[in-house]
Amino acid sequence: MSAAKRLSVFFTFTIFIKSLSGNHGNKKVYADLTTNRLTREHDGSNGMWSLHGIAHASHATKTEFIFNADLLSDDGRNHLNIASMVYPMLGLTSDLDEDYLEYLILQAKTAKIDGFLVEWGFREHPSNVALEKIIAVAERHRPFEIGVNWCDHWLLQWLEKKNATDQMVSEFHRNAQYLLDMVFYTSSKRFPSFGLRPLIFLFGGGITKEQFREVLAIGLKIPYWLDPPLWIGNYLNFAETAEFWAEWGPLMDGIFGWIPSRRRVVPPSMPQWDYYGNLADTTQYQQNVSSAGEGCVRNRTCQLWCGSASPGFDNRGCAGWGGTLKYLPRKWQGTSLYNAQWKNHVLNNSSANIIILPTMNDYSEASVLLPTKQYGFEALYTTELFASFWKGSQSDSAGVTLPTWWFSLKKSIAFLNQTGVNVTKAAARIEDCSTKISQGSYAAAANCLEAVQVLTDTFYAHLTVDDFTLEVPNGKMYFVKPPLMKFGAYLLNTTHGLYLRMSDVMSRLLLTKNYVGFLQFDYILLDNAFTQIQVYSSTRRRNADATLMAFPRQTTNDQYAEITNSVEAGNFAMVCDLMNKVPGVWHHVNVRLYRDNIAWDHTATLNSDLHFKAVGGSYLVKRISLQFQVYHSGD
Ligand SMILES: *[C@@H]1O[C@H](CO)[C@@H](O)[C@H](O)[C@H]1NC(C)=O
Ligand SMILES: *[C@@H]1O[C@H](CO)[C@@H](O)[C@H](O)[C@H]1NC(C)=O
Ligand SMILES: *[C@@H]1O[C@H](CO)[C@@H](O)[C@H](O)[C@H]1NC(C)=O
Ligand SMILES: *[C@@H]1O[C@H](CO)[C@@H](O)[C@H](O)[C@H]1NC(C)=O
Ligand SMILES: *[C@@H]1O[C@H](CO)[C@@H](O)[C@H](O)[C@H]1NC(C)=O
Ligand SMILES: *[C@@H]1O[C@H](CO)[C@@H](O)[C@H](O)[C@H]1NC(C)=O
Ligand SMILES: *[C@@H]1O[C@H](CO)[C@@H](O)[C@H](O)[C@H]1NC(C)=O
Ligand SMILES: *[C@@H]1O[C@H](CO)[C@@H](O)[C@H](O)[C@H]1NC(C)=O
Repeated sequence: MSAAKRLSVFFTFTIFIKSLSGNHGNKKVYADLTTNRLTREHDGSNGMWSLHGIAHASHATKTEFIFNADLLSDDGRNHLNIASMVYPMLGLTSDLDEDYLEYLILQAKTAKIDGFLVEWGFREHPSNVALEKIIAVAERHRPFEIGVNWCDHWLLQWLEKKNATDQMVSEFHRNAQYLLDMVFYTSSKRFPSFGLRPLIFLFGGGITKEQFREVLAIGLKIPYWLDPPLWIGNYLNFAETAEFWAEWGPLMDGIFGWIPSRRRVVPPSMPQWDYYGNLADTTQYQQNVSSAGEGCVRNRTCQLWCGSASPGFDNRGCAGWGGTLKYLPRKWQGTSLYNAQWKNHVLNNSSANIIILPTMNDYSEASVLLPTKQYGFEALYTTELFASFWKGSQSDSAGVTLPTWWFSLKKSIAFLNQTGVNVTKAAARIEDCSTKISQGSYAAAANCLEAVQVLTDTFYAHLTVDDFTLEVPNGKMYFVKPPLMKFGAYLLNTTHGLYLRMSDVMSRLLLTKNYVGFLQFDYILLDNAFTQIQVYSSTRRRNADATLMAFPRQTTNDQYAEITNSVEAGNFAMVCDLMNKVPGVWHHVNVRLYRDNIAWDHTATLNSDLHFKAVGGSYLVKRISLQFQVYHSGD
């Protein structure tokens, strides 16, 4: 369809839904937020952007997935191999970067999303770090609500690992109390609630009904300004069958919809997956949730229910969390499934109090609303339009593309600052732009961003760039220890590494200037086994305690074990970690050398600055080179 045609269909529909008068009231839209994607630059790990996983229960054509998020295109602009079936428009970002968290909140607000439900495990889980950070950032952009989608099966898995499942009741209780004290901590309403009752969304699959009944019996200390929380259970785990609901109905205060069912066995034309859902299934799913929710509220078993709308799904990016591969297309025979789900709520006058959008950013399952290379801003425009109508407010989509612009300017300013440019004025202005976006003053925000753009463009125009390419070995980058040679290449195995050291002249230059650096080399795996080739650098950044950054949604230990390999954070010495399984193929590598991470002070192993290490197998390496674009501020 041509762009003009698409636009006209869009407008016709806009006018149509604007002509309806819905039943509004205090309706809310929340997006589910995951927090397990990191970057080497920010966190010393790629988190879930890198992954090795096997879909054990799958019969698809490909069941083993290796994603090496360090790999860049030759021009350094795109990551070639990230653990997702969609590519983020902003490239790789860290869920712990406060600029990025601020971007997420601005992006949500421009799409009329009222808050996030952070997928949260327990107090000691990495998701809690992100939760505390995002609560602080959200304070600057009120009104914006932060709640949790409590992944109680992560708590169970943690206790299983500690052989402490007998503590589930006390641990669940401790964490529920923590949520009340820390997340729902204030008398002004900045979290999802119903009257004075905070809403705790429970994903399910962890706590049993007997344990949950015990938790309720112990009781929670409720801050004086609140009433006890309402427990809202995922339809999937609490209400999908009559048997589930018979057990859980008396314990839960409501249900919420999730991603529509993907239960059809694939036809031979879809061999990449095991199961899928189609247009009819998504509508049927929403109707199933609606009738359960409405029935439950009518007979007063529930206080409220929440519908859902999900833009699509493809879990090859996480190897189906070790299970099966499932697919929900974004379009079915030309019809957007996301639109269809929203239409179902809007046109059928759904009585839901809340619509939940799974997900804002779960790249592992490709269910993101965020802008991607493949789908642009489509899902965000749809969200803005329908959420406005559903809530009875005026649609204004002029803000949807502003937050990505804001984020890239924010990063440009940080880079210019590191280069020695006085960015005081630009830095103050960009804060002003985020306030304008947050307040919905989009024309003023666009003018503000334009002004900052002009400032940064001018700064960039005054920078000079020197390009350095160091073919190794070279007077500026040489071997500390003679490498072993084989077939005209360097042999790398578990007992013989490669150790490169930078000359003092070159390292002084890099320490005094800002630069963008790259490491390139070719390698081939010699053994028929899963192994890694890693490069480490000298660094002065603190190695925080290694932290597991991700837990899958499924519950068996075997599935879990498959993907823990690549999610260790805090090792800023690591330049790249490339996982391999297929021998006999030469790979060309281009990875970043981050200025913040590398000290160039010869403190890596054997007084080197770059150390190539094989984990498991033997490799041949050749054509190593380093490239630097060194920036000077004009004067
Ligand atoms: C848990 O129990 C298993 C089997 O008894 C044992 O192998 C493992 O070491 C225990 N783990 C911990 C953390 O105590
Ligand atoms: C809807 O509910 C019916 C009856 O319980 C069930 O057979 C069907 O599979 C459900 N459909 C979807 C898409 O969830
Ligand atoms: C209340 O509604 C739910 C959901 O429709 C249903 O499963 C349950 O049996 C009903 N309970 C009573 C007491 O009618
Ligand atoms: C509204 O619900 C009916 C069934 O109750 C369904 O057939 C119809 O497709 C729904 N409308 C939309 C726009 O989804
Ligand atoms: C929804 O509400 C509108 C306006 O009140 C009404 O015209 C329409 O018939 C209703 N649709 C359904 C499916 O109940
Ligand atoms: C600029 O860099 C300095 C020194 O690293 C830092 O303290 C300051 O916060 C930076 N300012 C901006 C706007 O990035
Ligand atoms: C940077 O610029 C601001 C005004 O834009 C000025 O007040 C400040 O003194 C400058 N800082 C330096 C170090 O030149
Ligand atoms: C690594 O290669 C060297 C040279 O071929 C060899 O002597 C050594 O045993 C190898 N180490 C391993 C662990 O295979």
